[in-house]
Amino acid sequence: MGRVFSGLQPTGELHIGNYIGALRQFTDQSGHYYCVVDLHSLTVEPDPATLEARSLDLAALLVALGLGRKSAVFIQSQVPAHTEMTWLLACEARIGELNRMTQFKVKGRNRPQSSVGLFLYPVLMAADILLYDIEEVPVGDDQRQHLELIRDVAMRLNSHYGDVVVVPRAVIPTLGGRVFSLTDPLQKMSKSDPDPMSKVLLTDPDELIVRKIKAAVTDSGREVLHDPVAKPGISNLLEMAAVLSGEPVTVWAERYRSAGYGPFKQAVADQVVAVIGPLRDEAQRIRKDPAELGRILEDGRLRAREQADLRLSAVKRAIGLHL
Ligand code: TYM
Repeated sequence: MGRVFSGLQPTGELHIGNYIGALRQFTDQSGHYYCVVDLHSLTVEPDPATLEARSLDLAALLVALGLGRKSAVFIQSQVPAHTEMTWLLACEARIGELNRMTQFKVKGRNRPQSSVGLFLYPVLMAADILLYDIEEVPVGDDQRQHLELIRDVAMRLNSHYGDVVVVPRAVIPTLGGRVFSLTDPLQKMSKSDPDPMSKVLLTDPDELIVRKIKAAVTDSGREVLHDPVAKPGISNLLEMAAVLSGEPVTVWAERYRSAGYGPFKQAVADQVVAVIGPLRDEAQRIRKDPAELGRILEDGRLRAREQADLRLSAVKRAIGLHL
């Protein structure tokens, strides 16, 4: 596997979609970088105390996954090269291409009150990745368009100034790249959905996980079948269970085909609890040990800074900025 970078925003609470689409793919190897992208969260005006607490919650979760030993786990705003690189790349990105981003169209375009940060969001993301000579970016399907833009910006930079950055590619899981809402299986599961029943949070206690899965909107009929068009609710649960257990969707579908929705949902809930429960408990333990967490983040910061400063200097030199 090539060098990896991935980031998660400390906006709202993380849910099982974040785990299945992204976190689950992260591995602890040297030359891999996992980042709490707190600067991205500023695009939506968070409360300062909440932002800081959530950044540490997220860092603790990454450490609970076993990351931060060989790989670097760090907080974006602690590495100033990210913001400097953002300006250099903003001068390569085109207004037309940023305007076409679905996320910007949905959240900000045509709203004069939305922040310029929302428009520049993918450029900051490009800076995150291009500073670290990254080949692979494990993300969920909703980041596909951003990664395509980042590749275009990287190639444009290289064609203007010689090969100064590595052109990365997205790694999106074929199964679980898009986990859907439990209350509306045609919509993506989302941090910003105000309905708590729409998502299983990575902090939910076991009983609540079971209650949410049991209450998930399912489809008419009784048969457990994988058919995302005719049975989006059941298919969403089948995919979640398959990914979390490592067994194929067909095995789950066969096993519960005629058992009815009740026993099937109970089995999915048990599977979710088996994976999320220990992760939640370990994240809470690490969060209560500020010395240990602080040490890992400081180590991550130093390693990230060293690499990011090197690449930033190389890009500045190529652009003709006097060092
Ligand atoms: P964020 O914080 O919204 O989401 C974190 C990761 O979770 C994935 N994801 C999902 N996967 C499957 N199903 C879902 N319903 C679902 N919802 C979210 C996201 O695709 C993401 O991988 N822009 C990024 C953060 C970022 C970043 C980066 C990522 C900033 N810089 C550089 C990679 C590389 C974001 O908002 O993720």
